[in-house]
Amino acid sequence: GLNGQKVNVLVVGLDNSGKTTTIERLKPKNKQSNEVAPTVGLSVEQFQRGGLTLTVFDMSGAGRYRLLWEQYYLETQAVIFVVDSADRLRLVVAKDELDNMLANQQLGRRVPLLFLANKMDLPLALTPVELAQAFHLEEIRERPWQIVPSNALTGEGLDRGMDWLAEKLL
Ligand code: GTP
Ligand code: MG
Repeated sequence: GLNGQKVNVLVVGLDNSGKTTTIERLKPKNKQSNEVAPTVGLSVEQFQRGGLTLTVFDMSGAGRYRLLWEQYYLETQAVIFVVDSADRLRLVVAKDELDNMLANQQLGRRVPLLFLANKMDLPLALTPVELAQAFHLEEIRERPWQIVPSNALTGEGLDRGMDWLAEKLL
Protein backbone atom coordinates (compact mmCIF):
# COMPACT_ATOMS: atom_id res chain seq x y z
CA GLY A 1 0.00 0.00 0.00
CA LEU A 2 0.88 3.66 0.10
CA ASN A 3 1.74 3.72 3.78
CA GLY A 4 5.29 4.87 4.29
CA GLN A 5 6.19 4.35 0.65
CA LYS A 6 9.36 6.30 -0.09
CA VAL A 7 9.29 8.50 -3.14
CA ASN A 8 12.06 10.61 -4.69
CA VAL A 9 10.55 13.84 -5.98
CA LEU A 10 12.57 16.10 -8.27
CA VAL A 11 11.50 19.77 -8.25
CA VAL A 12 12.75 21.78 -11.21
CA GLY A 13 11.93 24.94 -13.15
CA LEU A 14 13.59 28.30 -13.72
CA ASP A 15 15.01 30.39 -10.89
CA ASN A 16 12.42 32.51 -9.10
CA SER A 17 9.53 30.27 -10.22
CA GLY A 18 8.71 29.37 -6.61
CA LYS A 19 10.13 25.84 -6.15
CA THR A 20 11.51 26.32 -2.64
CA THR A 21 8.42 28.23 -1.54
CA THR A 22 6.26 25.39 -2.84
CA ILE A 23 8.28 22.78 -0.95
CA GLU A 24 8.07 24.79 2.27
CA ARG A 25 4.29 24.80 1.90
CA LEU A 26 4.23 21.03 1.37
CA LYS A 27 6.05 20.35 4.62
CA PRO A 28 4.26 19.73 7.90
CA LYS A 29 3.26 23.07 9.50
CA ASN A 30 5.80 22.86 12.32
CA LYS A 31 8.64 22.46 9.85
CA GLN A 32 7.70 25.27 7.48
CA SER A 33 9.89 28.33 7.15
CA ASN A 34 8.89 31.66 5.67
CA GLU A 35 12.48 32.61 4.96
CA VAL A 36 13.12 31.54 1.41
CA ALA A 37 16.32 32.47 -0.42
CA PRO A 38 17.49 31.49 -3.90
CA THR A 39 18.71 27.90 -3.80
CA VAL A 40 22.43 27.32 -4.31
CA GLY A 41 23.02 24.08 -6.20
CA LEU A 42 20.35 22.00 -4.56
CA SER A 43 18.82 21.21 -1.23
CA VAL A 44 17.37 17.87 -0.14
CA GLU A 45 14.44 17.60 2.24
CA GLN A 46 12.65 14.59 3.65
CA PHE A 47 9.18 14.69 5.17
CA GLN A 48 5.88 12.80 5.33
CA ARG A 49 2.89 13.79 3.32
CA GLY A 50 -0.29 11.93 2.52
CA GLY A 51 1.06 8.62 3.78
CA LEU A 52 4.21 8.94 1.69
CA THR A 53 7.76 9.59 2.79
CA LEU A 54 8.95 12.18 0.29
CA THR A 55 12.61 12.81 -0.43
CA VAL A 56 12.47 16.10 -2.25
CA PHE A 57 15.31 17.35 -4.44
CA ASP A 58 14.91 21.12 -4.55
CA MET A 59 17.08 22.10 -7.50
CA SER A 60 18.36 25.57 -8.22
CA GLY A 61 16.83 26.98 -11.39
CA ALA A 62 19.66 29.43 -12.01
CA GLY A 63 21.33 28.98 -15.40
CA ARG A 64 24.69 27.91 -14.02
CA TYR A 65 23.12 25.09 -11.98
CA ARG A 66 20.60 23.68 -14.46
CA LEU A 67 23.05 21.02 -15.64
CA LEU A 68 22.78 19.49 -12.18
CA TRP A 69 19.16 18.48 -12.74
CA GLU A 70 20.01 15.49 -14.92
CA GLN A 71 22.29 14.02 -12.27
CA TYR A 72 19.14 13.02 -10.38
CA TYR A 73 16.93 11.74 -13.22
CA LEU A 74 17.80 8.06 -12.75
CA GLU A 75 16.54 7.99 -9.16
CA THR A 76 13.55 10.31 -9.76
CA GLN A 77 10.10 8.78 -9.26
CA ALA A 78 8.04 11.96 -9.64
CA VAL A 79 8.75 15.39 -11.16
CA ILE A 80 7.29 18.73 -10.20
CA PHE A 81 8.02 21.37 -12.84
CA VAL A 82 7.30 24.84 -11.49
CA VAL A 83 6.62 27.81 -13.74
CA ASP A 84 6.13 31.47 -12.87
CA SER A 85 2.91 31.98 -14.81
CA ALA A 86 3.59 35.71 -15.11
CA ASP A 87 7.16 35.39 -16.40
CA ARG A 88 6.22 35.82 -20.05
CA LEU A 89 9.71 36.97 -21.04
CA ARG A 90 11.31 33.69 -20.03
CA LEU A 91 8.56 31.37 -21.12
CA VAL A 92 10.61 30.07 -24.03
CA VAL A 93 13.58 29.48 -21.74
CA ALA A 94 11.38 27.46 -19.39
CA LYS A 95 9.99 25.50 -22.34
CA ASP A 96 13.51 24.72 -23.54
CA GLU A 97 14.42 23.38 -20.12
CA LEU A 98 11.27 21.26 -19.95
CA ASP A 99 11.97 19.87 -23.43
CA ASN A 100 15.57 19.08 -22.46
CA MET A 101 14.39 17.16 -19.45
CA LEU A 102 11.71 15.23 -21.32
CA ALA A 103 14.20 14.29 -24.05
CA ASN A 104 16.69 12.89 -21.54
CA GLN A 105 16.60 9.09 -21.55
CA GLN A 106 17.68 8.91 -17.93
CA LEU A 107 14.30 10.14 -16.76
CA GLY A 108 11.95 7.15 -16.68
CA ARG A 109 9.31 7.30 -19.41
CA ARG A 110 6.49 6.71 -16.94
CA VAL A 111 7.65 9.10 -14.26
CA PRO A 112 4.65 11.39 -13.63
CA LEU A 113 5.02 15.11 -14.27
CA LEU A 114 3.12 17.63 -12.17
CA PHE A 115 3.30 21.00 -13.91
CA LEU A 116 2.61 23.79 -11.43
CA ALA A 117 1.38 27.02 -13.02
CA ASN A 118 2.59 28.96 -10.01
CA LYS A 119 2.08 32.62 -9.05
CA MET A 120 -1.48 32.45 -10.31
CA ASP A 121 -2.16 35.41 -8.00
CA LEU A 122 -0.13 37.80 -10.16
CA PRO A 123 -2.24 40.02 -12.44
CA LEU A 124 -0.20 39.15 -15.55
CA ALA A 125 -0.33 35.41 -14.97
CA LEU A 126 -1.12 33.29 -18.00
CA THR A 127 -3.95 30.81 -17.52
CA PRO A 128 -3.23 27.06 -17.26
CA VAL A 129 -4.80 26.64 -20.71
CA GLU A 130 -2.46 29.24 -22.21
CA LEU A 131 0.53 27.64 -20.50
CA ALA A 132 -0.41 24.12 -21.57
CA GLN A 133 -0.51 25.39 -25.15
CA ALA A 134 2.74 27.35 -24.88
CA PHE A 135 4.55 24.33 -23.41
CA HIS A 136 2.92 21.88 -25.86
CA LEU A 137 1.96 19.64 -22.96
CA GLU A 138 -0.60 17.77 -25.06
CA GLU A 139 2.32 16.38 -27.08
CA ILE A 140 3.60 14.43 -24.09
CA ARG A 141 3.04 10.72 -24.73
CA GLU A 142 3.09 7.86 -22.23
CA ARG A 143 4.16 9.96 -19.29
CA PRO A 144 1.25 10.90 -17.02
CA TRP A 145 1.10 14.68 -16.64
CA GLN A 146 -1.17 17.23 -15.08
CA ILE A 147 -1.16 21.03 -14.97
CA VAL A 148 -2.42 22.69 -11.81
CA PRO A 149 -2.53 26.44 -11.07
CA SER A 150 -0.92 27.27 -7.73
CA ASN A 151 -0.02 30.00 -5.32
CA ALA A 152 2.90 28.79 -3.24
CA LEU A 153 2.54 31.72 -0.84
CA THR A 154 -0.89 30.52 0.32
CA GLY A 155 -0.59 26.87 -0.68
CA GLU A 156 -3.57 27.11 -3.03
CA GLY A 157 -3.59 24.32 -5.59
CA LEU A 158 -0.86 22.27 -3.91
CA ASP A 159 -3.20 19.72 -2.32
CA ARG A 160 -4.84 19.09 -5.67
CA GLY A 161 -1.48 18.72 -7.38
CA MET A 162 -0.04 16.40 -4.74
CA ASP A 163 -3.20 14.26 -4.64
CA TRP A 164 -2.90 13.74 -8.38
CA LEU A 165 0.81 12.87 -8.06
CA ALA A 166 0.19 10.40 -5.22
CA GLU A 167 -2.51 8.69 -7.28
CA LYS A 168 -0.05 8.20 -10.16
CA LEU A 169 2.51 6.61 -7.83
CA LEU A 170 0.20 3.80 -6.72
P1 GTP B 1 15.70 29.27 -7.23
O1 GTP B 1 16.00 28.56 -5.95
O2 GTP B 1 16.57 30.45 -7.45
O3 GTP B 1 15.71 28.35 -8.41
O4 GTP B 1 14.19 29.87 -7.10
P2 GTP B 1 12.86 29.13 -6.62
O5 GTP B 1 12.15 28.56 -7.79
O6 GTP B 1 13.15 28.21 -5.51
O7 GTP B 1 11.95 30.35 -6.11
P3 GTP B 1 11.63 30.76 -4.61
O8 GTP B 1 10.78 29.72 -3.96
O9 GTP B 1 12.88 31.15 -3.95
O10 GTP B 1 10.69 32.02 -4.85
C1 GTP B 1 11.11 33.16 -5.58
C2 GTP B 1 10.25 34.34 -5.20
O11 GTP B 1 8.90 34.16 -5.66
C3 GTP B 1 10.12 34.57 -3.69
O12 GTP B 1 10.15 35.96 -3.44
C4 GTP B 1 8.75 34.00 -3.35
O13 GTP B 1 8.15 34.60 -2.23
C5 GTP B 1 7.96 34.33 -4.61
N1 GTP B 1 6.83 33.42 -4.86
C6 GTP B 1 6.85 32.07 -4.85
N2 GTP B 1 5.64 31.56 -5.14
C7 GTP B 1 4.83 32.61 -5.36
C8 GTP B 1 3.45 32.73 -5.74
O14 GTP B 1 2.70 31.77 -5.93
N3 GTP B 1 2.97 34.00 -5.89
C9 GTP B 1 3.75 35.11 -5.70
N4 GTP B 1 3.19 36.31 -5.87
N5 GTP B 1 5.05 35.03 -5.35
C10 GTP B 1 5.59 33.80 -5.18
MG1 MG C 1 14.87 27.54 -4.64
